[in-house]
Order: sequence, then C-alpha cells, then structure tokens
Amino acid sequence: MSKIFSVAIIGCGSRGQNVYGKYMFEKKEQFKIISLCDVKESMLEIAKKRFGVSDENCFTDSEEFFKQKRADVLVLATQDRDHVSMCVKALKLGYDVLLEKPISPIESELYELLEAQKQYGGKVIVCHVLRYAPAFLKVKQVIDSGEIGKIISIDWTEQVAYWHQAHSFVRGNWRNDEQTSPMIMQKCCHDLDLLQYYANSKCEYLYSFGDLSFFNRANQPEGAADRCQDCKYIDTCPYSAERLYVKQFIDIGRVTGWPFDVVDLTRPITDESLRKAYQSNQYGRCVFACDNNVVDNQSVFIQFENGIKANLIMNGFTGFAGRKVVIHGTHGEIEMDENRDMLKISIFGEEKDVYDVRKSQALSIKEIVQSDLRDEFGHGGGDEMLVRDFYNALVGSGDAQTTLEKSIESHLMALAAEKSRKSGEKVEVHKK
Ligand SMILES: NC(=O)c1ccc[n+]([C@@H]2O[C@H](COP(=O)([O-])OP(=O)(O)OC[C@H]3O[C@@H](n4cnc5c(N)ncnc54)[C@H](O)[C@@H]3O)[C@@H](O)[C@H]2O)c1
Repeated sequence: MSKIFSVAIIGCGSRGQNVYGKYMFEKKEQFKIISLCDVKESMLEIAKKRFGVSDENCFTDSEEFFKQKRADVLVLATQDRDHVSMCVKALKLGYDVLLEKPISPIESELYELLEAQKQYGGKVIVCHVLRYAPAFLKVKQVIDSGEIGKIISIDWTEQVAYWHQAHSFVRGNWRNDEQTSPMIMQKCCHDLDLLQYYANSKCEYLYSFGDLSFFNRANQPEGAADRCQDCKYIDTCPYSAERLYVKQFIDIGRVTGWPFDVVDLTRPITDESLRKAYQSNQYGRCVFACDNNVVDNQSVFIQFENGIKANLIMNGFTGFAGRKVVIHGTHGEIEMDENRDMLKISIFGEEKDVYDVRKSQALSIKEIVQSDLRDEFGHGGGDEMLVRDFYNALVGSGDAQTTLEKSIESHLMALAAEKSRKSGEKVEVHKK
C-alpha cells in the first residue's frame, strides 16, 4: 500500500484549492487534505465543504495556523509577498512544502529561504509547472538528444492574451508590483526558468525594455465611465467586463471554471451572479481607470554564460494565450506553438517531424473551457504532473525538477530584467 500524506493548504484560492487541492483530493491513495487556512471566510467555507475538512482544522488567521504543524505537507498558495515568511515558518515546523511561484520578488528573501531550508531540512518544491508539462519535456528531450546540434539561440514569445492581461494584470491580483511582483517575474518566471533549463547555463547578462503603454487614463475613450456597468461602450469595448465575463460564460455553455470562479464566489455561478459580482468588485472597473502599474509589453535580450543567446518577448496584446518558441541549433531547429498544438523538429536537410502537443497550454477562454482537454489543461498537464512528482519526491522515489535551488536562477533573471527595464542599462545577473 502506498503512503498517504496528510495535507494542509494555506491560500485556498484559485491555485491552492482549484488546482493542487483538487488533484490531491482526487489522489486519495496518496494525499488526504486535513487542514485549511484562508483569510477570506467565504473561500475557506467553499474549500472546507469541498474537501470535507472539520471546523476545528480550518483557520482564517495564519498566526493561529502556524502555531503548530497541522499535517505532513503544506501547499503554500497565498500571494507572492507572503511566500517566504510563511515558508520559513513551515520549514521550522518540519513541513515539506509545495510552494507557489514566484518564490519572492525580493532578492534577499530568495537567499533567506534557501538558508532556512538548509537549516531545517524540509523539501521545498516550487510550482514551475511547465517543467512537468509533456510538450515542454519533449523539447528538453530533443535538445538533450543532440539531434539539432549545438544551440546557438532561442526566440521565445509569451503571448499573454488581451483578456488575460485585462483580467490578471490590469484589474486583477497582479496589477501592481508593489502588492505582488513585477510582471516579468509573475508571468515569465516560467519562461525564464525554461530558457535557462534549455540553454543549460546561467545567464551572464541581459537587457530589457518595456512599459505600460495602453492601460492607463490617457487611453480611456471619450465619455467612458470608470465602471463597465455605467459605460456606453459596454457592448463594444473588447475589455468590457460584461463581454469578458458574462458573455463568455454564456457562449461557452456556462461551464464554471477559471477565470469566472475568481470573479464570482457564488456557487453555483449563474449569469446574474456573475454580473452582480463584477458590478461590485474589482473586475468591473474600466481597464483605463485602475490602479495598475505593471507593464503590458516587455522584451528581454539574454546572453547566457555558455554563449547561447535568447530573446523573450512578453506581449499583452494577442488574441490567444500561449508560448511560441524557436530553438536554433547548428544541425536543426525546434519550433513549438502552443496555440496550434504544434511541435516541429527540423533536422537540416531532412524532413520535419511533427509531434502532437495536444496537452499543451492555452487557447482562448472559450476553447479552454469547451475542450475535452479541460481537465488536463492546467499548464499543459504540468499542474497534475507536478503533484505526481511532488509525491514521488516525498516518498524518495524521484527527484522533483523544481527544487528551491534550481528555481532561484529564473527569479534572479526576472529581477535583473526589471532592473534593466527601469535603468535602461545592461545588467549582469551574477555580479561578482
Ligand atoms: N504556478 C503557476 O503557474 C501559477 C499560476 C497562477 C498563480 N500562481 C501563484 O499562485 C499564488 C496564488 O494565486 P491564486 O491565483 O491562487 O490567487 P487567489 O487570490 O485566487 O488565492 C490566494 C488565496 O490566498 C488567500 N490569502 C491571502 N493572504 C492570506 C493569508 N495571509 N493567510 C491565508 N490566506 C491568505 C486569499 O484570500 C486567496 O483565497 C500567487 O503567488 C500566484 O502568483 C502561480
């Protein structure tokens, strides 16, 4: 019989509850969720009922929750700025931790956590979920096989999608870097992590440019109101909350899921409850009248220590979400397009191999929800694979790809990119 690990979750929102909680709850032969903590009572209540956790093991106060160890392992999925202080407390208590990314937007905290882990010895697995997604694993396999020769350069585009930009980075939780983290860390620490993983090298230096070019007051159409429900453009503006949420919800056949369950905490969600929710919360604000400061476009030009060059373009103005990658080797190239579920390997002078990467990420909200890949959609299957590898790491039968130590490089690159973007200068990532 396999060992069953008891689980506590702190931060029972979209990731903690709907992703990791969901998978762990389904894997009854491996995990049992026995304790929960969330500052939002409504969220805690939903999770409590869903996972059948008793009242005395549910907490709204993290101080109380951390007074003692509540389970074998902890899923830590609160907001970015709380990750390190909570993870240090958890390690002190003797937990192994599944830690949401980003680890922290503060450089000194990255080292603080690494020290704490060395001191207390628990495992910390960072949720760089794409490292576990089949399509991205396939790319690594092809690189390691040597088929395309020596890598010279990598072109990488992160298509954020206009609706995701508006939802998360203009109206939503990650709109302001003083509250959470800069967008190049929040959205692209996966990309930076994969870039250095594929390049198999640390970054030597980089340059970055980018700004908040569109979602600000100066671009608010004439006569627009500050809330969608009061606005004359409600039926025509592509960013209108009525269109992004209620209309999409209806169009996809009223299947509940992200992002609707973030906008509306009513269960079950109806057209009317969704409308009522956005009309009174942050998601009904005009995209040109929010307190957002994170960029809507950014480019990073990277020189790795082993000579490989890469450029990463993050763009909020795309119709669809998903990554487009081309890896140029001396004997061939790899092209990957998540939108097209396409992975092509060209060996120069030979025919192309095309792999089906159906379990890849992205598409439009409509396609994600309608697709029968929906359950596997979570980062191209990566979310579920991560939970599987976390279990294997716990029982000592495998090495998780995303240990704390391995995950810090991408964060240092993101911090350097932000520094370069703001200063306009070249930044060395590991300055001696
Ligand atoms: N791995 C990925 O690809 C990925 C994707 C999206 C988000 N994230 C990260 O996951 C984390 C959570 O994001 P989310 O989308 O689930 O956000 P969310 O807002 O849906 O969930 C966070 C939950 O934490 C709770 N919370 C906040 N402060 C708390 C505290 N002090 N004590 C207890 N609970 C507290 C909130 O009430 C909320 O329910 C963020 O750090 C985010 O950057 C990672």
